[in-house]
Amino acid sequence: MGSWIAVERHPHGRLELVEGDIVDQHVDAVVNAANSSLLGGGGVDGAIHTAAGPALLDACRALPADGHGRRCPTGEVRVTPGFGLAARWVIHAVGPVYEERYRARAETLLQQTYRSAFAAAAELGARSIALPAISAGAYRFPVHAAARIATAEARSVLDRPGSLEVVRFVLF
Ligand code: APR
Repeated sequence: MGSWIAVERHPHGRLELVEGDIVDQHVDAVVNAANSSLLGGGGVDGAIHTAAGPALLDACRALPADGHGRRCPTGEVRVTPGFGLAARWVIHAVGPVYEERYRARAETLLQQTYRSAFAAAAELGARSIALPAISAGAYRFPVHAAARIATAEARSVLDRPGSLEVVRFVLF
């Protein structure tokens, strides 16, 4: 799983921070930091595709795309099986590319991305979910602001009744 950084107890579950690799998480659903094509990339996306195996790319390719090859708009998610991963599902989430002059828009979109991921997990009935720091790598979202948004959304999920009992942020 990795090494513990912190655990926070909430009325309806646990918020966990661990240092580790997203592909090593034994949870119901892992979240991928994907791009709109859903056809893979580097960082989290590359690691997840490598660990899940080629069936994941086939499943992504089978999802409907628009005329520009976009399978998932920014702020939204798409779900596939986890294939070779320990996780049953992959929730592919597309966070915003950060640009300082559109900071407010990027913050809203990142919040939406987390909300979409947690909503998908609830729809699946997932009890545990592991997430990377969406947008905080190649998409250059400042890490402190990204962490504030991510943890606020997670806390609001764990403060209400729902299927999720564990929300784990995996920091690389
Ligand atoms: N496990 C956990 N966290 C990881 C891992 C891993 N195996 N690999 C990278 N990270 C961390 C990065 O250090 C960063 O903090 O995840 C965070 C998100 O980084 P990216 O994977 O670059 O994701 P993002 O910023 O959302 O950019 C998405 O990158 O590879 C492409 O296809 C992807 O185009 C999309 C873009």
